[in-house]
Amino acid sequence: MIAAGMFISFEGSEGVGKSTLVNRVGKWLRDQALSVVLTREPGGTELSETLRELVINEPMAVQTELLLLFAARAEHLDKVIKPALTVGSWVLCDRFVDATYAYQGHGRGISMGQIDLLVSAFVDVMPKLTFWLDAPVSVGLERAAKRSAPDRFEREKIEFFDRVRTGYRTQYEREGDRIVRLDATQSADALFDEACGYLTRLMSAAK
Ligand code: TMP
Repeated sequence: MIAAGMFISFEGSEGVGKSTLVNRVGKWLRDQALSVVLTREPGGTELSETLRELVINEPMAVQTELLLLFAARAEHLDKVIKPALTVGSWVLCDRFVDATYAYQGHGRGISMGQIDLLVSAFVDVMPKLTFWLDAPVSVGLERAAKRSAPDRFEREKIEFFDRVRTGYRTQYEREGDRIVRLDATQSADALFDEACGYLTRLMSAAK
């Protein structure tokens, strides 16, 4: 029997180590002969990557930002996420809807009700499990500052990222069955081990 794949998302503010964790978990699953799709939001398809460039670089109204993110997401769901799940692949996604609640909701001030409406209208597949990599804002921003030229989000003030972190905490409290908090101040190895522990339990429960 082919093991059914699962949809897993990875969330957190800038510089918390999401991408490293996504890549390591992907390799760990592939080493178990599982089919894995690594993807990200905004992005994941050619059109969604084009929308990503606009969203992270072009000045725009917050409502435009929100709708472009959902356009990119609709395309991503239709072309990548749902087809992959249908053939039994695992989908590991660097950011998904919780980022919208955290960044556009808490960060930019869009009401949760508006985001709820868009989610219920356009998102018909939710992650089975979401890892929220949480660290004090200063820790993440220090790591992110070492990277190349900052984009429109990375240039935001610390207060914005404080609100984003509160947004993730609110999502975690609202959806505690799906979202797991990982302490992102621990080492990359410890983070990886903890994440694999959760996934191992998830796979055993699904057997
Ligand atoms: P990344 O650099 O982590 O890949 O993400 C690009 C930026 O997009 C990041 O600063 C957060 C932002 N973003 C949102 O504001 N809302 C969303 O729904 C998503 C998926 C990302």
